[in-house]
This record gives sequence, structure tokens and C-alpha cells, in this order.
Amino acid sequence: MVSKLIALEAYPNLKDLDFRILRGVELNMRHHQWVPLEDIARFARTDVETASHHLGKLDSWELVRRRSDIGYIGYQLTIHGYDALAIRAFSRKGLIEAISTSQIGVGKEADVYIAITPGGEKVAVKFNRIGRTSFTRIKLYRRDFMDKRHISWLYISRLVAQREHEALQLLSPFARVPRPLGWNRHAIVMEFINGVELADLREGDLSRGEAEEILGKVLDEYLKIVKFGIVHSDMSEFNIVLTEDQSILIIDWPQYLPTAYPESLEYLKRDLTVLLNSFRRRWKVEKDFNEVWNRFYNAWLKSRGG
Ligand SMILES: Nc1ncnc2c1ncn2[C@@H]1O[C@H](COP(=O)(O)OP(=O)(O)OP(=O)(O)O)[C@@H](O)[C@H]1O
Ligand SMILES: [Mg+2]
Repeated sequence: MVSKLIALEAYPNLKDLDFRILRGVELNMRHHQWVPLEDIARFARTDVETASHHLGKLDSWELVRRRSDIGYIGYQLTIHGYDALAIRAFSRKGLIEAISTSQIGVGKEADVYIAITPGGEKVAVKFNRIGRTSFTRIKLYRRDFMDKRHISWLYISRLVAQREHEALQLLSPFARVPRPLGWNRHAIVMEFINGVELADLREGDLSRGEAEEILGKVLDEYLKIVKFGIVHSDMSEFNIVLTEDQSILIIDWPQYLPTAYPESLEYLKRDLTVLLNSFRRRWKVEKDFNEVWNRFYNAWLKSRGG
């Protein structure tokens, strides 16, 4: 399902005061499920009446949500409000100048849009939508937020963006992954990749020989990454992009694990199983799992100083 970037419809109407109000709601959500109107007004340095008027508009644009049956009037930021704040931050940092309302990538846990930098370069902006469909991947982060009292989607989706940006920063100097350009809140800006997901190819698009060559490239790339000390943990034909010149990129890194974590070995095994199975199923590429596994297991051990 393709979703529109709702925040963009409201964006041109937003004034500095509206952004201060959104910030006020955002920051106070650490302490309140529904942020009292008075607190928002105080933060935005305005009177309650003005704040209430602006919040009414923000509500009609779906950037905040209002509740009055809790003994007071309270507001929450919506994912669209969070998007608006991230877009504003990217634009102030000079990372993007315009962003398109239509989506390029439809992920389960993220929406990806094309944007243009002030220099006219095309970039991709990935907004995390954690919690929209499932919490499957979040298990992996439990260790990171165990000590936090409030585990909110705001906090988690921010952590997810930070982690993915971190992975891309570590890997992009030597591996075929998108070059990261910045992150804010739940979103990251990265190099735009003109290509097609392996999952979107039809059987006839590649000969067995071509598929074999592509699998070889993916494995070479992944082996370098494992040697460096990182396991992807969600490797599949959905997260490999094939470009026009037949080179490949591995995308979608928020759930990566350092090889220093012993459980990364299980994820590595699963990644390779998924990969080899899909090439066997779709293009009849036969590759001996044990031979591949030996190479990767040794790389995994070495990366741990073993
Ligand atoms: N840098 C990029 N340039 C161009 N397109 C991209 C880029 N990053 C992601 N996409 C597109 O957006 C889609 C979703 O991105 P990604 O896989 O990172 O997110 P996701 O929501 O985790 O996906 P899923 O949960 O389905 O694996 C990709 O499959 C790809 O088509
Ligand atoms: Mg993906």
C-alpha cells in the first residue's frame, strides 16, 4: 500500500510558532501520555488561547491528536507531526530542499521518499514506521532500552534511525551500501539508489548464469562486512538492490548486530540460508551451503579476534 506523506500537505502552512508548539508536544511526551495544553503554551512562549487555536489547526492537519475526556485538555504528536519536525530539521541543516509526496519504497516498517538537495542532487529519505504492523524487529533492541521507563514509539523509531545511520556510516567507506547523509528523529537521508530490488525481478529477467554471478557479488560483499564485524540480520531478496550496471547494494540496516554479540551467529546463519534458498528457488542456482558457511563462520570468528 502506497502512503502519501501527509505532513507535506500541511508543511507550507506551518509558521515558527507551529513548530515550537509541535516541539512542545514532542518534548513533553516524555512525561505525559497526553500533554496538557498549558504546558504546550508555556513551552511555545505563547498564551493558552493562541496555543489552542494553533493546535486546532495542527489537529485538522493530523499533526497532533486531542483528548478532552481525561480531566484536562491534552495533545499527542502523531507520526505526521513527527515527520514534519524531521523534514524541518533536514531542511534547516541544508540536507534537503524539496521532497516528493509520492513514495518510492513501500517497506513494512518504513516509508521511503525521494528528495532533492539544495545542490539539485536526488536523495532518499527513509521514515521509520515502527509499530505500524509488527514489533518483530524490535526484539533486537531490547538490550538498548531496557532501562528506559517509557518505551514509546517516538523513542523506538528514533533509535531505529540512529542505528541504521550508524551502520551505513561504518559500512559505506568500504562496502556497497547507500551513503548516509544525515539523520534526525525517526528519519535518515541517504544517497538515492537507482535500481530494482531483487524481489521485484521476475524469473525471466535473469538467466541462471546472471543470477549466479549476482549471488557471488552479494556473498563477496557480505563476507567483507562480516569480516569487518557486522551481521545484517534481515538479509533477503527484498533488501538487495540491483543497479543498471549489474552491481548490487545491500540496504535496510537498522537491525544489524555486531559480531561481538554471540547471537549474531544465528542471524548470520539465517541470512545465508534465506539468500541461498531464494536463489535456488527462483533461478535454480545451486550453491553448497556448507562451503559458504565455512567461509562466513571463519570470517565471523576472525572478526571477534578468534
Ligand atoms: N537509498 C535508497 N534509494 C532508493 N530506494 C530506496 C533506498 N532505500 C530504500 N529504498 C526503497 O525503499 C524500500 C524500503 O526500504 P527498506 O528496505 O530500507 O525499508 P523497510 O521498511 O525496512 O523494508 P522491509 O521492512 O519491507 O524490508 C526498499 O525496498 C527500496 O525499494
Ligand atoms: Mg527492506
